[in-house]
Amino acid sequence: MPQPGVFALGTRSHYYLDFDLLPGAAPEDLVGALASLDEPRRTTAGANVVVGLAPSLWRAVAPEDCPEGAVDFVPVDGPDGYRMPATQHSAWAWVAAAGYDAAFDVARACAAAVRPWAVLAEETAGFAYRDSRDISGFVDGTENPPLDEAPEVATVPDGRAGAGASVALVQRWEHDLARLSSLALADQEAVIGRTKADSVELDDDLKPPDSHVARMVIEDEAGNELKVFRRSTSFGGVRAHGMVFVAFTNRPPTLEVMLARMAGTADGVRDRLTYFSRPLTGAYYVVPSVPALRRFA
Ligand code: HEM
Repeated sequence: MPQPGVFALGTRSHYYLDFDLLPGAAPEDLVGALASLDEPRRTTAGANVVVGLAPSLWRAVAPEDCPEGAVDFVPVDGPDGYRMPATQHSAWAWVAAAGYDAAFDVARACAAAVRPWAVLAEETAGFAYRDSRDISGFVDGTENPPLDEAPEVATVPDGRAGAGASVALVQRWEHDLARLSSLALADQEAVIGRTKADSVELDDDLKPPDSHVARMVIEDEAGNELKVFRRSTSFGGVRAHGMVFVAFTNRPPTLEVMLARMAGTADGVRDRLTYFSRPLTGAYYVVPSVPALRRFA
């Protein structure tokens, strides 16, 4: 059984915490503390908590529960010195609630629970912007798999190592909104590859090959489109703002290929969006199944 929060849509306030294992602390104790976060996990507390572990840490403590191909994040390089940085931490907790107050309380409770074993390295508050738009104004999630298909994309199927687990990519992107919004509407739409008002995909003759959508539609050798399940939110204030990109897969190379295509690693073509937003962080986390996590509680 996957952690239910992965698929619990509709919450508007989010909190992301990254933890580093303290020197000398046992990874099993950190996992145990995260696995024992029973109280906030209950829906009555008004929040969902999704817990992730660095692939290297999780593989060391539970090799049979680790999805194949899950690896810690390494920087992704593109042409002209372009680089997506790696800021891999030991563990990740994602709190999602109806309001900021509940997200805040539960995030504090999570940090307190792991304090003997880990230090809070990063924290970001996220929010839902309008009708699930990015703060650029574009709808985010149009081509996301619907909930009845999402588990197939996000969760390792039964019978394989790490059944019920996912691998999450977590990347904080800071937007240059002033620059993006100074473009004419048609040029903004050419960055994404969809219309801004109603998220209609541009016709092939209008959609540049380096638009975000054109770069992100990828296929396997048999011609099947490779999908991930995205759960991003917006973050920040007036001075600095952007998107906390969060996506889940049961096939880690899919996310790696998408990032490499954004950076232009193989063909030198950088996703046009990368000229208007830059990644400040980058990490992968294994989101173990509920039973795999419970063994440490
Ligand atoms: C600055 C950060 C990003 C922004 C603002 C952004 C925004 C968007 C928008 C507006 C769309 C079109 C609507 C939709 O289908 O959701 C989209 C599509 C998509 N994005 Fe992103 N995105 C960002 C980063 C990423 C990253 C890092 C990845 C993958 C690693 C990614 C993967 C995708 C995929 C797979 C699609 C759907 C493509 C399709 O099937 O048409 N995005 N994104």
